[in-house]
Amino acid sequence: MLITIPDVLTAGQVAEARAALDAAEWVDGKVTAGYMAQMVKENLQLPEGHPVAVRLGEMVLAALARSPLFMSAALPLRVFPPMFNRYTGGGHFGTHVDTAIRATASTGQRIRTDVSATLFLSAPEEYEGGELYVEDSYGAHSVKLPSGHMVLYPATSLHRVAPVTRGARVASFFWVQSMIRSDADRTLLYDLDMAIQRLAVDVPGNPAGVQLTGVYHNLLRRWAEM
Ligand code: NI
Repeated sequence: MLITIPDVLTAGQVAEARAALDAAEWVDGKVTAGYMAQMVKENLQLPEGHPVAVRLGEMVLAALARSPLFMSAALPLRVFPPMFNRYTGGGHFGTHVDTAIRATASTGQRIRTDVSATLFLSAPEEYEGGELYVEDSYGAHSVKLPSGHMVLYPATSLHRVAPVTRGARVASFFWVQSMIRSDADRTLLYDLDMAIQRLAVDVPGNPAGVQLTGVYHNLLRRWAEM
């Protein structure tokens, strides 16, 4: 499932993040890439544990905790501390799949990457190219969102970032270990949750709403890993 979560950050938060990021010292993005990805990756990153990355990462995590859509779509168990990247001057990231298991630099805690996230911090008109292409069985989907918006996609999917031929594309990226490992199962729960919420608005007080909520929680109880 590929899902857009609008307005994760406010315009003020995006401006604050950009001011700090535009003044920061960036390093070659190959430092966190696996062997295969190193050959196709050409971008800049803030090092893990960089004070700006830590401060802005906490801002992103706090925003995610307030987002019912993120909670419903990702069903997070653990969230990797958000990282930050910058593509400019033809920078790109060729087709790759994200590393399955990652350890955080600060605690060494390992996270299984079930869901990948990109939070856009540049407005689309600030740069040319830089689309995220995510492949699934229906083909490749192009993603380029307004600043402050985020996309979630299965970490199991092949994906790439097209070369940025003008301006700079700044984003936050991270991974989620979900309580629901399978993208198909997670999608079912998300669809069920959305239907229950729609029912509560369209037919308030209908007993089927309680029954379906029970089904949702019983499926979650059956499938959740913690
Ligand atoms: Ni990736």
